[in-house]
Amino acid sequence: MKIALGSDHGGFNLKEEIKKWLEEKGYSFIDYGTYSTESCDYPELALKVAHAVADGECTHGIIVCGTGIGVSIVANKVPGIRAALCHDTFSARACREHNDANVLTLGERVIGRGLALDIVETWLNASFSGGRHQRRVEMIKALDEKKG
Ligand code: RB5
Repeated sequence: MKIALGSDHGGFNLKEEIKKWLEEKGYSFIDYGTYSTESCDYPELALKVAHAVADGECTHGIIVCGTGIGVSIVANKVPGIRAALCHDTFSARACREHNDANVLTLGERVIGRGLALDIVETWLNASFSGGRHQRRVEMIKALDEKKG
C-alpha cells in the first residue's frame, strides 16, 4: 500500500495532521502538496493525486479541500479513479467494500481532526468485498473506457 496525499490551502492543515498520523502508523506515502496555506487551485492538486493513483504510482489517494467536494469532482474525472467524499466512518468502510473507492476526499472546514483520522483509519483498513459488487465496479470501469 502506498498513499498519495494532497490538499489545497483550504485542506492544508488537515492534510498535515493526516501526514503526521500516517508517519506515526508507519504508512508509506507521497505528499503531492500544497505545502502552505497560501491560496492555490484545488483542481491542480486533486489531479496530481488522482494521476498518481490512476498511473499506479500509488495504490490509494487522500485529498483534502475546504469541503472535500471540489477535489472529489475533479478526481472523478480521471479514468480509473473512484473518489468518495466521506464525513462518517460508515461511508468510509462502505465505499471500500462496495465501490472499491481508491481515493478518499475530506473537507477540513466540515469535520474535526478526530473524526477525520477515524475516517482515514477506517478507510485504509477496509477492503473491497467483490462478489455482487464486482459486476457493478466493472460497469463503472466500462464508463472510464468510454471517457478514455
Ligand atoms: C477554497 O476556498 C475552497 O473553495 C476549496 O478548498 C474547496 O472547498 C472547493 O471545493
